[in-house]
Amino acid sequence: MSDRAAQRAEAVASAMEDIRRIEAAGPLDRDVLARFRARLLELLAQRALFPAEDFPPPERGAALYRIAEDPDGRFALYVNACADRTDSPVHNHTTWAVVCGFEGQELNRFYRRRDDGTPQETHREVVEAGTGVAMLPDDLHSIHITGGGLNFHMYGLALDRLDERVYFSEREQRWKPMAAMSAIREARPGTTVAP
Ligand SMILES: [Fe+2]
Repeated sequence: MSDRAAQRAEAVASAMEDIRRIEAAGPLDRDVLARFRARLLELLAQRALFPAEDFPPPERGAALYRIAEDPDGRFALYVNACADRTDSPVHNHTTWAVVCGFEGQELNRFYRRRDDGTPQETHREVVEAGTGVAMLPDDLHSIHITGGGLNFHMYGLALDRLDERVYFSEREQRWKPMAAMSAIREARPGTTVAP
């Protein structure tokens, strides 16, 4: 392992330890989310440990690199590397979620459910270098990147284990099940990378 990879592993492990401790201290609320976000922003302030060259984007679209996850799937941290643009539909997470930025701009639109269930935008926040947003399990958002970007995405449970999520189909004007994310690139130190 290179010096940088070893230092990165140590910094990530230390942040995950703190986040586990924050989570265990009490019920999940917006204050706890703010503390998760603050700890992740502290981690990404060690910018030299997360160079873009270690997390190359695919030719088009975005790639997700897993850099931390507990054996039971909790506390899953990913680097999201986007080549050009990403537009997601409105969706929930069914677990807490935090997005923090290294490079580029990720527009986050947030929504509430109208009485008829359809999403209504409530506000927007741009995640860019040194800023972040955090969501409770039922919070709704959509993400929009143009011009590429590099971000942290962290979830209370690994994305490939989240099989109860929903997204809003604009075309059908209804909520639909969201398939668990499976295209994740393994980037944890000491783990075997499948081809
Ligand atoms: Fe999301």
